[in-house]
Amino acid sequence: MVLKLSVDERLAPARLFPLLEQNGTHLGLLDKLVWRVGVLPSFREGLISTRERLLPLMSSQPAWGPGRVDTFNPYKLIQFGVRAADLTPEERIGVADLPAVFEQGPRAGMNLHWDGNNASLDERNLSAAIGAGVTPYTVDHQAIHRVADWLKTLTPPPSPNRPNGESVERGRAIYRNACADCHGFQEPHHYVFEGKYLGQVEPITRLRTDRARLDSYADWFRQRQIDELFAGTRYHFRHFRKTDGYANLPLDGLWLRGPYLHNGSVPTLADLLKPPAERPRTFLRGLDLVDGVNGGFVSPSCDPATAADAKPFCFDTTLPGNGSGGHLYGVELAPANKAALLAYLLTF
Ligand code: HEC
Repeated sequence: MVLKLSVDERLAPARLFPLLEQNGTHLGLLDKLVWRVGVLPSFREGLISTRERLLPLMSSQPAWGPGRVDTFNPYKLIQFGVRAADLTPEERIGVADLPAVFEQGPRAGMNLHWDGNNASLDERNLSAAIGAGVTPYTVDHQAIHRVADWLKTLTPPPSPNRPNGESVERGRAIYRNACADCHGFQEPHHYVFEGKYLGQVEPITRLRTDRARLDSYADWFRQRQIDELFAGTRYHFRHFRKTDGYANLPLDGLWLRGPYLHNGSVPTLADLLKPPAERPRTFLRGLDLVDGVNGGFVSPSCDPATAADAKPFCFDTTLPGNGSGGHLYGVELAPANKAALLAYLLTF
């Protein structure tokens, strides 16, 4: 967005002033002069220098596609002035799905962020704002708290899927055995945020999902977050840590959360229960038609060779950071049990 906007010729008074007027903002002569010689030129200048910083990074990463963002690498370049060329090859790709934002209250104390690098809701929220471009100077703590309070109790809309009731009950028992310790579980009208390992970090050596996002959170960066951002204020970061895997997260609102895994590499729940070699290599990401049979959104396959024409976005699991391997839980179940487990998951 920033990359395109900064060089877009429509970002000019002749186009913007009439639009502002149309939307109810009246600009007097003096206002117009200030906008023309002050506001717009410095706005564009800021965008261009941000673009200069980000472009070398972004052009070396696979395209993010809708609903994904690299959280920590742009943060390194913008907040700490690091050059893209100075990032190690291991840390260069941290592209991940935007995580679910519902019911944050019960998540207090769990290891948050995909890699579980911070167990404080407040620090996670402030850091997320920084990742989105806020600076220690422009940050509006009150506004962040207002949104955070709202999200503490906001529940996801119930699943519209209607799987067979008897299968759901069989699937519930299978899930309790194989999944609930790490993820918590769904009751008919609410999610239960309880599980022996819920909120803990599962080591990557056992989990074996794509490790690029984990490696993008580098130890040097953690140190600078702590030492430099908000140091000496009440907002001083204290809880960031470097982990060795991804966090066992609650699965509430699962019907809305596809494609699955931290990098959005597995289009449907049915695919996640398949062995990695049988998961789709490519698929269309960003369609909003709910797939009531497989879980997630309808995601037909696509051809990366003509990816530019594929709408909304052709996701290629063979590119760096996009790997769809690992998370082998449930893949060995007998077909009838797998179908029952899927039926239960469709109710989340
Ligand atoms: C040992 C802990 C553990 C067990 C057991 C486990 N999972 Fe997971 N699960 C994880 C972790 C960690 C992730 C995040 C991995 C990633 O994104 O790379 C995850 C991710 C997921 C996701 C994707 C969530 C999202 O928002 O994209 C789903 C769905 C899921 N698990 C379902 C299951 C099911 C169903 C079972 C049982 C058959 C199961 N899990 C068993 C640890 C576990």
